[in-house]
Amino acid sequence: MMKKYLTTAIPYVNGAPHIGHAMDYCLADTYARYQRLIGNEVRFQVGTDEHGNKIFAKAKELNIPVQEYVDANSDKFKEFIKKLGVEYTDFIRTTDESHEKRCQEIWRKLKDHIYSAKYEGWYCTGCERFITEKEYEENGGICPDHQKPYERLAEENYYYRLADFKEQIRKAIESDEILILPEFRKKEVLKLLDDAPDVSISRPRAQLTWGVPVPDDDSQVMYVWMDALSNYITVLGYPDEDISDWWPAAAEFVGKDILRFHAILWPAILLGLGLPLPKVLVSHGMVLSNGQKMSKSIGNVIDPVEVLGRHGVDAFRYFFLRHIDTFADSDFTWEKFEDAYNNELANDLGNLVQRLATLAHKNGIRAEGIEISLPEEYRELMDKFEFSRAFDYAWEKVNAINRRIDDEKPWSLAKNGETEKLNSVMKSLVAELLEVNEMLKPFLPNATSKISEIFAGEIVPPETPLFPKN
Ligand code: MSP
Repeated sequence: MMKKYLTTAIPYVNGAPHIGHAMDYCLADTYARYQRLIGNEVRFQVGTDEHGNKIFAKAKELNIPVQEYVDANSDKFKEFIKKLGVEYTDFIRTTDESHEKRCQEIWRKLKDHIYSAKYEGWYCTGCERFITEKEYEENGGICPDHQKPYERLAEENYYYRLADFKEQIRKAIESDEILILPEFRKKEVLKLLDDAPDVSISRPRAQLTWGVPVPDDDSQVMYVWMDALSNYITVLGYPDEDISDWWPAAAEFVGKDILRFHAILWPAILLGLGLPLPKVLVSHGMVLSNGQKMSKSIGNVIDPVEVLGRHGVDAFRYFFLRHIDTFADSDFTWEKFEDAYNNELANDLGNLVQRLATLAHKNGIRAEGIEISLPEEYRELMDKFEFSRAFDYAWEKVNAINRRIDDEKPWSLAKNGETEKLNSVMKSLVAELLEVNEMLKPFLPNATSKISEIFAGEIVPPETPLFPKN
């Protein structure tokens, strides 16, 4: 048995969750369930990122005390994660006292690589990111993601000397010591690394009050990403506790928009602390809504709780893990979601279970002595984090069983009294279904546990369909 530590990006709590936030959770939870299925022990972190100007400004705008505001929104994320059926082990909030204290200790440990200097340049509060002159020019002074002009800053900051680690990071990425997935993002990261300057890691308190105070300097507050990235190890107890049982992470799940922080600044922090680097960075694509980026101003933001309410958690996970490509941007529309539910979950799988269980029950077939294993092709895809492809592979088997029932017509065998053939055909169909069920366990936790119950020993068809149609 191996120990696997998995992490997810911690969302900003300047609003309620939207469907895009589901990606990290769905992918990481699927991988976690797969790891447990093959016998490994999993530790799985989730949490909320609660500092920074963006959150502070939003609370002010709503006239709510900041702590109250982040408490309420953090709870919404917690509820959402539960509703998604995510089996996490640790929930961290960056306003937790223990996290703040540990961040300060981390800062102290990095002291040799920190210096103070004047920052004069651009900042985007939406991205919570310092913007280079080159980017400023390329984007005509306006953030393409937030459609807001960059802010001009001229302030005294602390800097982290990225230059101390650039070569080591480059080697780690080139040699896949940190494996970046999908592969084509590796080049982008290496290009960014070439141009990456030292990183400003604090803001004057006058500009940012809502953050972790820099130790031994009351005038400065930590840059939000410094505090946020540290969560992956503070949640394990670093530096108060020995984290070597779990660290380095087996995989860190992030969206492609924040890969740069995880592939450059985060390794630099870890190297500064003398800690090993995460093994895999899984960077997923974006979920679009009707072909566009979700935005409040366009009015196309989709509430995940509403999607969950429509057909339950398995339908949600089905869509987001199969029809949203693991690595490419993909579109959510209600129409696509309903089609996938009705035609695939309800028809392909739901009807198959009903049909096979009814036939087995009628003919006294029992599901006993069936040994199940996971097919090699499926395992390879799951091991490579190719979740949507692994899901496709399992679904092809669902369809193959449906075709086999149509071809072999067990009802005719029963009618013609071909009992021996009937028994062997039925047993092998049930075995095939149980194998598919095993493959689907990481994706569809509820339906697969119902299928296991239906096909345990005496086979009894479900009284209500697995996926009822409206
Ligand atoms: N707070 C930072 C992460 C800090 S991790 C140390 C942040 N927060 S976020 O709320 O903007 O995003 C959280 C996660 O949700 C990220 O992985 C991000 O890529 C993902 N997504 C946000 N919108 C998304 C889509 N529309 N589609 C897919 N993922 C999206 O960044």
